[in-house]
Amino acid sequence: MQKEYAILLINILVLLFFFQTLHYFPKFTNFLPAIPNQFASKLARYNYGNEINIGLSDFEIAQSKQYEIELENKYDLTAVLLHWKRTESVKRAVSYLLDCNSFKEIIIWNNNPEINLEKSVLVKNNASLNRIRIINSKENLKDEAKYRVCAEAKTMACFYVDDDWNASFYLKSLIADFRSDPYVLHSATEPYTFYTNLVWTYFDKNIDLHTGFSWIGCGSIFLREYAQRHLQYLQVYLKNNRNLVYLSDVFFSIWLNDIPSQFNINIYGLTGRNSGASFSSSSNFLQYQHQSSILAIRILEHNLRYNQSNATSHLGFVRRSNRRFPYYIKSSSLKDDFIFFTNILPIDIENIPFNISKDFERIKTKFILK
Ligand SMILES: *[C@@H]1O[C@H](CO)[C@@H](O)[C@H](O)[C@H]1NC(C)=O
Ligand SMILES: *[C@@H]1O[C@H](CO)[C@@H](O)[C@H](O)[C@H]1NC(C)=O
Ligand SMILES: *[C@@H]1O[C@H](CO)[C@@H](O)[C@H](O)[C@H]1NC(C)=O
Ligand SMILES: *[C@@H]1O[C@H](CO)[C@@H](O)[C@H](O)[C@H]1NC(C)=O
Ligand SMILES: *[C@@H]1O[C@H](CO)[C@@H](O)[C@H](O)[C@H]1NC(C)=O
Repeated sequence: MQKEYAILLINILVLLFFFQTLHYFPKFTNFLPAIPNQFASKLARYNYGNEINIGLSDFEIAQSKQYEIELENKYDLTAVLLHWKRTESVKRAVSYLLDCNSFKEIIIWNNNPEINLEKSVLVKNNASLNRIRIINSKENLKDEAKYRVCAEAKTMACFYVDDDWNASFYLKSLIADFRSDPYVLHSATEPYTFYTNLVWTYFDKNIDLHTGFSWIGCGSIFLREYAQRHLQYLQVYLKNNRNLVYLSDVFFSIWLNDIPSQFNINIYGLTGRNSGASFSSSSNFLQYQHQSSILAIRILEHNLRYNQSNATSHLGFVRRSNRRFPYYIKSSSLKDDFIFFTNILPIDIENIPFNISKDFERIKTKFILK
């Protein structure tokens, strides 16, 4: 663990981004996806070896603030929670999500058909009731439910977190990160998983493959349209593997075909959390998860390589990368009021060769720092 942090903190480029004040680089006022070379040259004036002098003028700050306000209005968030058996835990999650005031609405999907979940069980304060919506499901859809809920959100983007993680340590940073680059998946995880995910990254320039894995459970933000598209992908590409639809999360980030923006941070459970009765503790979970992780990249690779987007009408995988910024490692500050960035990646993810016929099981590789 020590080593991982050393890497993270060496050569920190810049401490930017007091929440809601500035977006990273004020020159970029539109959403055109950044082409890395162009990006580098435009940034040249800010570059002094290992440091960046942001050199903000009053005008640029004003422009940035305006831009932030536009983003804030455009990308409202809905918080999504799943309920199964841990009502107390969901209640605690609802409570801190209400307190942080970042969400237009909090939607709780109850995956347990034996329980009719009611708002009054989750919130005592009547004033909050209109910010809560509960959907009682007739069946347990497990992971797929997250995407169903988000697909129905009234806002353009969703925040998802498992009921047992306390995301309030990094929620503001995550939201700020999302607003700076809304077209990629934003998530947070602890260092070990972070580095494992870096290994689970696949590039092949010849076929527009540029994707990476991320869990979404510790807190993540993504566009509603991505959730909608994911539901369609699940229907088309898992029609012969319906049992794997429950593990939708394993497919989600890979099928976005864009490297997610992940925070590398310490994560904490909600106080009083108990790990019982979770989906991941069910039998065969690991086996299915492994099968899914391989299938996810195989399906994506195959479809990009053989250009089968014409075979499935509008449902081809996206070839273009939508991210605005190069690959950084990020971590929020302890008080969640600014974000550390470094451009020193421990693994040169873009240049690891990838050959589907032998590298699809890369996730099992153990070249993780420990
Ligand atoms: C909340 O509303 C219910 C029904 O509308 C009412 O019975 C209850 O007294 C209210 N509770 C509070 C704390 O106002
Ligand atoms: C979540 O973390 C915050 C610190 O950011 C803490 O104040 C709060 O008590 C925690 N909530 C729970 C339910 O654990
Ligand atoms: C895939 O097919 C579309 C038309 O169906 C074509 O425009 C595109 O160039 C093809 N891409 C590749 C990589 O073959
Ligand atoms: C998709 O288009 C390519 C060329 O554009 C063609 O070779 C291939 O047969 C098509 N696939 C299907 C399933 O129609
Ligand atoms: C990928 O690996 C297979 C099996 O080792 C090999 O036959 C094939 O030539 C490799 N393809 C490329 C493009 O290197």
